Amino acid sequence: AAQPRAKCGRAQFRDQLQDVMALVHAAPGIARDHILRAAGRQFVEGDVQHWWHPNSGAGVRTRISDDLLWLPFVTAHYVRTTGDAAILDQIVPFLEAKPLEAQQTESLSVPDVSHAEGTLLEHCRRAIARSATAGPHGLPLIGGGDWNDGLNRVGLGGKGESVWLAWFEICVLNDFSELLALRDLHEEAKACRGRAAQLAQTVGAQAWDGEWYRRGYFDDGTPFGSRENAEARIDSLPQTWAAISGAGDSERVEIALRSLDDNLVRQADDLILLFTPPFDKTTADVGYIKAYPPGVRENGGQYTHAATWVAMAFARQGDGDKAVRLLRMLNPIEHARDEKDCERYKVEPYVIPGDVYSLAGHVGRGGWTWYTGAAAWTYRVWLEEILGFQRRGDTLTINPVIPKDWPGFRLQYRFQNTIYRIAVENPDHCSRGVTLMELDGVPVADKIVTLRDDALPHEVRVVLGPNRRREDHLLPDAAFP
Ligand code: GLC
Repeated sequence: AAQPRAKCGRAQFRDQLQDVMALVHAAPGIARDHILRAAGRQFVEGDVQHWWHPNSGAGVRTRISDDLLWLPFVTAHYVRTTGDAAILDQIVPFLEAKPLEAQQTESLSVPDVSHAEGTLLEHCRRAIARSATAGPHGLPLIGGGDWNDGLNRVGLGGKGESVWLAWFEICVLNDFSELLALRDLHEEAKACRGRAAQLAQTVGAQAWDGEWYRRGYFDDGTPFGSRENAEARIDSLPQTWAAISGAGDSERVEIALRSLDDNLVRQADDLILLFTPPFDKTTADVGYIKAYPPGVRENGGQYTHAATWVAMAFARQGDGDKAVRLLRMLNPIEHARDEKDCERYKVEPYVIPGDVYSLAGHVGRGGWTWYTGAAAWTYRVWLEEILGFQRRGDTLTINPVIPKDWPGFRLQYRFQNTIYRIAVENPDHCSRGVTLMELDGVPVADKIVTLRDDALPHEVRVVLGPNRRREDHLLPDAAFP
């Protein structure tokens, strides 16, 4: 049987942090409170409770390798978006408990609140320091699992490595360097960027499989998520985060995403698989993921949370047609257009499902619904990547990546007590490329609007168009006699 998963009443460290990333515009106070609450679930050593009961503080200490890194990742998103850098100086106590014994994978306890405390910046710093591990290939150790909880045995011997975690760590290091710069810690910021660049080189040298990035290595050095494997040959995570991190070699990222599209996107069934083929016969000791039938949940089904990253990766590549096609596939209503669809899908079509089966005989059946992790990322990908709505403190840019046949779109944004009506026009059928941005009829420099809470109505006009210079360059030579 599978291990117990997120349940009502208990907070998951990585999940609820990701959830609040979607609240930075509508309810930044909730995001702020939760970031500080999560920082309070960190041990003095830098690791965190994988989940905890808010009332008693009881929770588990584990060897899961990514949890702690979501703290700096989400803090950076919050600060970048809201401009509230003061959160970095908030003092939060650490937790204290017995470290795990050498053979222990997790322990349940009610930790003491320590006398030791630190700023949120210090909490983030400890998370990053604790994550600076390297296995035989120089990649971070996967420990008791990474984002994919069910891969909890590939690295228990202390040598297994995760390629996804490497990309994620690169993002976090670069993000943290931005936070450090806000506190004038420029040397430390430079060191973080240096580490990120070095790690990107290591991934390039150690994780490319020919047509996609590998998912990781077992304790004994055998790769997984590789063409050398019969099962789970290609996993979406290392491909999407190669693009999202911006740190993958651009040619390889393109090849990797093409491989992802060919192998993991099942257009006919409206499914975006986490990996393929599912674990079924392998004798390799990957973890409790094997307890799920092949094609269910993380075992090679559609895991919607990760599928949103696929749309995000294509949006980052500027492919608005594909990104929106993928997001539509994730929209539950598309799985319930008629009675036949509903019979197949079986669950509520008005909330995001955590997973959709690819199991033979049950293809397209919705799994666990009301899934906040997937819902939060879906919302963010539509808003920030497709509509291109990017607030940075008191400035706003709109950088859409949309299908070419969209004539444009409208968006209304309330900045404190002031309404901004935003109209995007796409007369030349482009996917991206802002050629003009106006605020109240006046073009704005650098296409950046400065937001003002003056309670007056404001109109923002954005026009997309082809990059003229590039087009000139593409004219046949004959055009230049
Ligand atoms: C579940 C867990 C989440 C994990 C995901 C993938 O959604 O709650 O923490 O990242 O599964 O295994």
